[in-house]
Amino acid sequence: MNVFLKSKINSLGRLLLFRDKDIFYKPYYGSLDFFRLAIYNIFAPGRILNRIRYKRFPVSKPKVPVLDNSLVVKPGDLSFDDLVELTAATISRHGAAVVDGFFSEKYIKEFRNKHSSFFPSSMTDSSNVPEIFEGGTMSLDIQDLWMNEFIVKVIQKYIGRLPYARRYAEVCEIRPRRKTTSRDFSRPNCNGNRLLAEEWHVDHSCLIQAAVFFDDVVPDGSHMEVISGTNRMPCSPMTLSHEYVEKSHWASKVLPCVGKKGSIQFHCGNVYHHLNAEPLNSRCWLKFEFTSGPNIMTSPEGIYSLLAGTTNYKDLTSERKQILSGILPLKSNKGYQPHHRGGFVPVKYKGI
Ligand SMILES: [Fe+2]
Repeated sequence: MNVFLKSKINSLGRLLLFRDKDIFYKPYYGSLDFFRLAIYNIFAPGRILNRIRYKRFPVSKPKVPVLDNSLVVKPGDLSFDDLVELTAATISRHGAAVVDGFFSEKYIKEFRNKHSSFFPSSMTDSSNVPEIFEGGTMSLDIQDLWMNEFIVKVIQKYIGRLPYARRYAEVCEIRPRRKTTSRDFSRPNCNGNRLLAEEWHVDHSCLIQAAVFFDDVVPDGSHMEVISGTNRMPCSPMTLSHEYVEKSHWASKVLPCVGKKGSIQFHCGNVYHHLNAEPLNSRCWLKFEFTSGPNIMTSPEGIYSLLAGTTNYKDLTSERKQILSGILPLKSNKGYQPHHRGGFVPVKYKGI
């Protein structure tokens, strides 16, 4: 009975709130409209409560002036601290930032050569190249890029605490074969690849990602776009149709995440974003997902790969150990014990 009633309420809700079939159709019932978001947050408050709990809502206002029409930050002559401040302010304002050419081409080239087994081969015949290449979990040998002081400081400034690594670091290259719209995806037998993330979506509510470009990422090529400022709104996790964005004033808020090789792209999980795919145009990056707390994807294979390099875990700074503590649990003096709500927690009692 409950299921029947719920489906009736859902149908009625759709009939009343999502009448325009040109912009709202299955499964694209996301909206940025105040009234619809208010209704959503009253009836399904889980996401907003999680954001409040982990201090990801409300988002504090940028403390320094930020460009209105671009999320690309040019390091120029800025000092380290000023660049951290400006980048964090840009994420607050737009939900994302690209720090253009933060790492030099030389550094990127040397890094790629040193860790070449994790990158796609440039010799491969392009007709055989997969749409999505994942290079496998990298070891602690890349800690200086992964937990680079600048990356950690920017994220810390934006989320208000030292982040936890959410996943193991991995190279990812995408080379879309086609452009797929939300209308295409809504049709049965659509041959688009959902994993390319071309649909307008938000990520987990406490996520923040940094990615280092190993290609020049240009407006005419495959690149991510965000709807500026949606990270500041109490958004639902529902996807938006392409028509919803294109036919509304939100179209003018769409900003491209572009920059030259060596740039760092940051994006908050709460900003609406998607891949603007350019057929056969690739984008290779090394991505680092972080979180304010939840959704840490620990895995035995990940831990194994993390320790498979030449870096000794014991030599990591205590801050880096703390950042990794979710995906590489810290050694505990008295070991761990099961928690009544699942998982394990360090043994707390005194004595033996
Ligand atoms: Fe995403």
